[in-house]
Amino acid sequence: MTKSPSDTTALPGQPHVARRDGQLWVEGVPLAALAREHGTPLFVYSKQWMLDALAAYRRGFAGRDALVCYAMKANSSLGILHVFAQAGCGFDIVSGGELARALAAGAEPSKIIFSGVGKSRPEMRAALAAGIGCFNVESEEELDVLNEVALAHGARAKVSIRINPDVDPKTHPYISTGLKGNKFGIAHSRALHAYRHAAALPGLEVTGIDCHIGSQITEAAPYLDAMERVLDLVTAIEAAGIRLAHIDFGGGLGIDYNGDTPPAADDLWRQLLARLDARGFGDRKLIIEPGRSLVGNAGVCVTEVLFTKPGEEHNFCIVDAAMNDLPRPAMYQAFHRIEAVDAGGHGAPRRYDVVGPVCESGDWLGRDRELDVRAGDLLAVLSAGAYCMSMSSNYNTRNRAAEVLVSGERAALIRQRETVQDQLRSESVADPSAFR
Ligand code: LLP
Repeated sequence: MTKSPSDTTALPGQPHVARRDGQLWVEGVPLAALAREHGTPLFVYSKQWMLDALAAYRRGFAGRDALVCYAMKANSSLGILHVFAQAGCGFDIVSGGELARALAAGAEPSKIIFSGVGKSRPEMRAALAAGIGCFNVESEEELDVLNEVALAHGARAKVSIRINPDVDPKTHPYISTGLKGNKFGIAHSRALHAYRHAAALPGLEVTGIDCHIGSQITEAAPYLDAMERVLDLVTAIEAAGIRLAHIDFGGGLGIDYNGDTPPAADDLWRQLLARLDARGFGDRKLIIEPGRSLVGNAGVCVTEVLFTKPGEEHNFCIVDAAMNDLPRPAMYQAFHRIEAVDAGGHGAPRRYDVVGPVCESGDWLGRDRELDVRAGDLLAVLSAGAYCMSMSSNYNTRNRAAEVLVSGERAALIRQRETVQDQLRSESVADPSAFR
């Protein structure tokens, strides 16, 4: 933690979230004021954190032909996408819905790449019509279908094949993607065959190779291993006469949730580029698809304590945010730091399980946390910029939270709190005539 003369303490991993005279601020705006204005639960994002994170990647790539495609599944809110579009980022999309969002946010179509194991024909058509930069294809059947769709569209689809390098990213099993047993990519041993097949299809233009080994990776070694495996294949594929103009190394770099120490993006890329140069591939265009590391520690979720209750085994701190807003603890037993917005306290610190109102025991946000809180206090769930709002749901008919983007001393609402009317809009009771 860094302490400045004005009694400001930046939180670990979140230099733009700081405690000033006991109160939590995001950049130049106090969270308590935002909660008063917009209610809770409320996601608040630091624009500067996102731009700094992007700048770290760009420093690492200085002097190279490289494109950062923000993996928008991490946080696909329009106001967040707009920040990255304005900064000249490309986008990594995985659905027709993400394509529409990226375009609505002002993305340049040629900087969009389309990943994912299960693209439908309408999604392929929409992406071709938009003129996206590349499809990351994950199976031989997908190559055939994309070829067919492209020919019918009168276009050639640019493709890169996602290969599965079979390396262990040493992360949670649900977010490991580059192991043999995972559904992702084409096996290393089938890759050359798939490239030969792709190169022979008239509706496809082979432009690159792609891999993505997992998420929340906190070491450089798995990336270096994956790079060796990918470059072995590049050598073999080019020896077969198929030139690969770009290499896409996916995303996956972790963030500090709880003292994690992932390499900095620029350091990681300096190491990777040195390997790339050493193997004679330094001239290729590079694409990367970071998600979490561009937004994860930009965001916090502010929530109000509804009740505290002593239990036989645990004390519970029941808050108004829940697993539908912050699904990562329930899904991956993920750890998010939780802090009181006002550090003043009440002189009665206790250990609590911080839980939401959803009717499941899995609805917890943090376990066994020391907090000095009472009903009505505000808590901030930290590192909530990635895979929180984008994975939120309406479970228990809870409305999705509001979102605010902060830049300096200014704050802008980028998502209104959902209403029950919003939720009911697309539903109806069955028309009696349907059952006659
Ligand atoms: N590219 C592809 C093909 C991906 O599947 C992913 C993430 C990314 C890029 C971005 O990875 P990142 O840089 O964000 O690690 N919901 C989970 C994470 C799922 C990641 C899915 N794929 C979580 O909350 O931890």
